[in-house]
Amino acid sequence: MTLREVVAGHRIVVSAGSGGVGKTTVAASLALWGSLQGRRTVVLTIDPAKRLATSLGLETLDSVPREIPAAVFGAQGLTPAGSLWAMMLDQKGAWDALVERHAPPEARARILENPFYQHLSQTFAGSQEYMAIEQLCLLAESGDYDLIVVDTPPTRHALDFLEAPQRLGDFLDKSVIKWFVKPYFNAGWSALRAVNRSVGFLLRRIEQATGISALAEISDFFTSMSGLFDNFQARIDKAYDVLRGAETAFVVVSSPEEQVLEDAEYLSTKMSELRMPLKGVVLNRVHHEFRPARRGRRGAEVGPEDVQEIAAVVERALGGRPGDAEELATNFADYQALARGESLRIEQFRAGLPRRVPVVTVPNFARDVHDLAALAAMHAHLFGGARAAA
Ligand SMILES: Nc1ncnc2c1ncn2[C@@H]1O[C@H](COP(=O)(O)OP(=O)(O)O)[C@@H](O)[C@H]1O
Ligand SMILES: [Mg+2]
Repeated sequence: MTLREVVAGHRIVVSAGSGGVGKTTVAASLALWGSLQGRRTVVLTIDPAKRLATSLGLETLDSVPREIPAAVFGAQGLTPAGSLWAMMLDQKGAWDALVERHAPPEARARILENPFYQHLSQTFAGSQEYMAIEQLCLLAESGDYDLIVVDTPPTRHALDFLEAPQRLGDFLDKSVIKWFVKPYFNAGWSALRAVNRSVGFLLRRIEQATGISALAEISDFFTSMSGLFDNFQARIDKAYDVLRGAETAFVVVSSPEEQVLEDAEYLSTKMSELRMPLKGVVLNRVHHEFRPARRGRRGAEVGPEDVQEIAAVVERALGGRPGDAEELATNFADYQALARGESLRIEQFRAGLPRRVPVVTVPNFARDVHDLAALAAMHAHLFGGARAAA
């Protein structure tokens, strides 16, 4: 299996991984490839770097996909056989839309204006993750796209994304909600706390999480939301159906740093437990190790002990300038050591992965990847035919 086959063979591709590794960039690049291949593609990005957002035409936050005009492709020397649509997750907007869809009409305005709701929709842990999945479901249900690429939020723990629907479900679980319906609150805060220690604990947690202590607001929120909760579990089940569906592929993005690779390994284990198996791995910002073929006896490794020899070669090539030659040679030896360390860690990481999962490496480019041409330049590495780890 290759990453090319993984992307070609699925309608939904989720780019997951720790924060800062290149998830948003890889998601955009995969989507661009889909559109160049003739698919009607949409990419749902979350917090794209500003310059990437600009080149995807995402100046303003709005929750509908916008098509990237042919002229923008043309200006970068690209001609898509399909089309590329991009959108940015608008967390607050997505919550409001959810309320509008599911809440009983008479309760809508009350929920939307409720300060507790406004706070919850912005700050509830997992809210962004949940809304990304909710948006994915809507895109999948629309039937408008042949390829949906989903970026995931910049959480440190990528697992948050996979567990978000259930955590939201647990939070909204009826056994919790029943404590919040109005009659209980008439007794007041202290009386309520006396009723049940766990309720007190819960309220303190909610206060901490939201900064809102006005119980009336919270009570009113849950009372008006109760109609919505009836639909919620079904919605959460639906979200998991989509995530676990045969048309969905999870691709983990990682950098070659030790901690990040460990996180990726943990994520891959958890994914199979959650029945959302990993379909591909992108190792991003990998430093290439130069391996000259002729250095037989000591293998192909270049180390600090080779600096003098290399400096001599460089000096000849520069026609003198021993200072520059030495600095360049040292820099090269350091780079080799860095790249060697990465490739050892990568080898170890591959050995722990399920068989048949393709692993591709993308080099650390000299510049940030923020326009269509740079995203297209990643394709040779992503789809260049790298084979599965044996
Ligand atoms: N292979 C690469 N080489 C150089 N820069 C990269 C590479 N991949 C990503 N970047 C840059 O790294 C930064 C973080 O990438 P991003 O995709 O936003 O990470 P994440 O979404 O995982 O937080 C961006 O500025 C992006 O342009
Ligand atoms: Mg990102």
